[in-house]
Parts: sequence; C-alpha cells; structure tokens
Amino acid sequence: MSSPQIPVHKGLEDIYVKESKICYIDGERSKLFYRGYDIDDLVKYSTFEEVSYLLLYGKLPNRKELNEFQKSIRDSYTLNPEVIKLLEIFRRDTHPMDLLRTCISYLSTFDDSPKDQSLEKNLSRVIKIIGSIPTILGTFDRIRRGKKPIEPNPKLNLASHFLYLLRGKEPKERDAKIMDTALILHAEHEMNASTFACTVTASTKSDIYSSITSGIGTLKGPLHGGANEEALRMFLEIGSIDKVKPYLDELFVKGKKVMGFGHRIYKNYDPRYRILKEIAKEMSKERGNHKLFEIALKVEEEVLKRLEKYNIYPNVDFYSGLVFYFLNIPIDFFTCVFTMGRVVGWSAHIIEYWMDNRLIRPKALYKGELNLPYKPIEQRE
Ligand SMILES: CC(C)(COP(=O)(O)OP(=O)(O)OC[C@H]1O[C@@H](n2cnc3c(N)ncnc32)[C@H](O)[C@@H]1OP(=O)(O)O)[C@@H](O)C(=O)NCCC(=O)NCCS
Repeated sequence: MSSPQIPVHKGLEDIYVKESKICYIDGERSKLFYRGYDIDDLVKYSTFEEVSYLLLYGKLPNRKELNEFQKSIRDSYTLNPEVIKLLEIFRRDTHPMDLLRTCISYLSTFDDSPKDQSLEKNLSRVIKIIGSIPTILGTFDRIRRGKKPIEPNPKLNLASHFLYLLRGKEPKERDAKIMDTALILHAEHEMNASTFACTVTASTKSDIYSSITSGIGTLKGPLHGGANEEALRMFLEIGSIDKVKPYLDELFVKGKKVMGFGHRIYKNYDPRYRILKEIAKEMSKERGNHKLFEIALKVEEEVLKRLEKYNIYPNVDFYSGLVFYFLNIPIDFFTCVFTMGRVVGWSAHIIEYWMDNRLIRPKALYKGELNLPYKPIEQRE
C-alpha cells in the first residue's frame, strides 16, 4: 500500500527543523560558535554566567546586565524546603539523572503563575532552574553519603558553588576555572537529540519544566550525554596500558561502540575534545595521576587507527569524564554536569522555537497489514 519510493529519514539525519541564531557547528572544520562567537574565545575570555546570558538573550551583557543576571541565578541557589524533603526520600542508589529529571519536574508545582507564558516569566523560570541544579545535585550527594546538606553560598559563581556543595569547602581558583570552562563547553550544541526532545515538547505549547524534563531523559542515554560516564568507566575497567589492545579487540569483535567516539555532525575532531584533552593532560600532571590519562591516550590512538578512515574521531565525552574525575566529581554525576551546562542551550532553543512555533509531528511509513479480521479471544491460539 505505501509506495516504497517514499524516503524515510532514519535518525532525522540532515533534516533542518527550524532556522536558528543560537549555534553553528562547522563539522568539517572543527569549529563551534555560540551566537556567532567562537567557542575558543568564549573559553579564553568569558564565564559560564556570561555565556548563559549570551545564549538566552542573544547578545553579550554589559556590566549592569551581567550583575543582575548573576544575582538572579545566585538567588536561585536556595531550594524550596519541599524539594529538600523530596531529595531525602529518594533511594540512595538512584541514578542522579533520574533524580534530576524528577526534581525539575517537581519544581513546576511551586510555580506561582503557571498560566503566565510570557517571555519574561519563562526566562525567570529558566534562571531558577539553572541556579537550582547544582544545589539539587550537591544536596543529594551529601544526603546519600549520610552528611548534612550545606547552606548555599550566593557569593560563589555557579561552577564554584557546585564544587563547594560537593566538597564542603570552597574550591581552589584553578578547579573553579576548569569547572566553569567545562560548563561553557557543554552549554549548547545546536539541534542534538536532547535539544530536539525539548523542542518537540515545547512545540505542543507545553511548559518549560516539561520541555526540560524531556531533555534530561534524552541526554541520559549512552549514545548522547551518558557517554562521558561510560568512557571513564571504560578507562577504569581497562586498568593498565597493556590491556588496552585486548580490551578493544574484544569490544570490536562484539560489535560494540567505543564511548566518546563518533558524532553525527563532526566528521573531524570535536573542538571541545581538544580543549578538554589539554585540561585532562594538565590535571593528570598536577595531580600526579598519569595512569588514567595514559590509558585514555592509548585508547584514542588505537581507536583512531581503526576508525579514522571512517571519519570517526573522539568527541566531547571522551576526555570530559576524566576532567570531572580529576575534579573529584562522583562518576554517576558526570551526565548531570553535562545537564548543568546544557540546560541553558535547551532553554534558548525552546524560547526561540516559541517565537515561531509549529507543532512537530512527523510521520511513520506504515509497513504493517490492514483490514485483518478481528477474532474473539477464545478463538486465538
Ligand atoms: C554518536 C553516534 C551515535 C553517532 O552515530 P551515527 O551518526 O548514527 O553514526 P553511525 O552509527 O552511522 O556510524 C557510522 C559507522 O561507524 C561506526 N561507529 C560510529 N561510532 C562508533 C564508535 N564510537 N565506536 C565504534 N564504531 C563506531 C558505526 O557502527 C557505523 O558502522 P557501520 O556502518 O559498520 O554500522 C555514534 O558515533 C556512537 O554511538 N558513539 C558512541 C557514543 C558517544 O560517544 N556518544 C556521544 C556523542 S557526542
């Protein structure tokens, strides 16, 4: 019945769903731009808060705008006591991405005017969510380790605040800077799977909490944001340089994928990978912990030998896990750290989509049967 000529865009590869002014990826030349600014410059000269403003408002803020924006993010560090109560009842072994998905969803129940869908109100919701995520995660980590949660500290920027809540003391400037850089690098990446999930939900004119919750559920998958956790676990499992080759031989024989390698858009090196690799290298020296970095290097070298001819290169997730590991962030938090940054890009896309909304409703090419006779249950085998 359906014509076999109808093209099916599996994985929606190369399909544009909207025009956008938020992000440009040059996958051939390894370049990434947020609102026209090269990611290399943003990492060198900017901060996560400033980049968040840029993504959400479309321009770099002046001093007054940045101060006000930072203040509203920091005012959001303090959670509603009901959210803390919820954190206390989660099983201690709940995956933090599941917890985060539930908590962001829960935040919607404290919204004082859920019917207000003005741009201003939605931006204030986004700021609240951005500021809440580190506190949700930091508080849960302390609860699950049997420690008392720490009071938020609005003097700290978001990156430092997260490390402060995890560690119970302010991080050194260097760690805070690395964390901030990682958040900048994860803040946005065009119409990837989770941004698309947010956009699909937003396109039904659902609310921002539901849209972001869709994004969290999608980012969790190991083919997407979950790859950073998996890549680091792979380095740990390999354990020593001499085991890299046999480990990869077995992985390839089984037809499994190497986590942190490959990308739908980059057919060259991911520019974020380069920056994170350099940081991981410096951190491994500073911490006197060369082993894991050397294992990662060897995995990279071996996998490139096997996959470079197919234009498959390491992506952002290959070294980010190592950087988070050196920052003493729990491994199961890695994808949440990705979320902490990416929630900004998701929100920018949701807001942009609402400016010219159209319900997203693709089609499935039906290949099943039709007009089957209905048999009562007693007559079925
Ligand atoms: C990201 C990813 C899903 C992109 O997939 P995609 O655009 O659909 O690319 P394809 O799966 O079509 O890749 C083309 C070929 O390269 C292989 N390939 C791609 N990534 C690979 C990887 N990481 N390890 C081993 N082989 C890989 C595929 O198996 C496929 O081979 P085939 O044609 O023989 O089946 C994929 O590269 C992947 O699963 N990577 C690992 C997970 C990861 O790091 N995700 C984070 C992305 S930022």
